[in-house]
Amino acid sequence: MALYSEKVMDHFTNPRNVGVIEDADGVGEVGNAVCGDIMKIYLKIDGGVITDVKFKTFGCGSAIASSSMATEMIKGKPLSQALELTNKAVAEALDGLPAHKMHCSVLAEEAIRAAIKDYYDRHGIEYDKSQFPDPHEEEEEGPED
Ligand code: FES
Repeated sequence: MALYSEKVMDHFTNPRNVGVIEDADGVGEVGNAVCGDIMKIYLKIDGGVITDVKFKTFGCGSAIASSSMATEMIKGKPLSQALELTNKAVAEALDGLPAHKMHCSVLAEEAIRAAIKDYYDRHGIEYDKSQFPDPHEEEEEGPED
């Protein structure tokens, strides 16, 4: 079996929603300390719904495919639904990722959450802080390979 599914290869070679939203309502940037890859997500939000989303990923093919798929999964969706998106769901939508590449999909989940938190913070919207644990507080993970 090939290491990567056709969907991963499709979203890697033809990523959807690449780019920048200049007047974004929320921007989230996260990185993986181990591999050094960085992902940035831009959201346009209207009435609690994600009307547009773009990403820039400086990282591996799995991270690019994950960001592409994750942006497709949250476009047009309410924030509450986007907050529930897990990296596991992204990986499943891609027909799987190799075990040692699962952490790449975590970046997508974290970047979306960071962008939504940024939106809440910028607009003074109250939210449950426990929904946004600081990923760096639980660090000390050691190498992921
Ligand atoms: Fe760094 Fe995939 S996100 S290796």
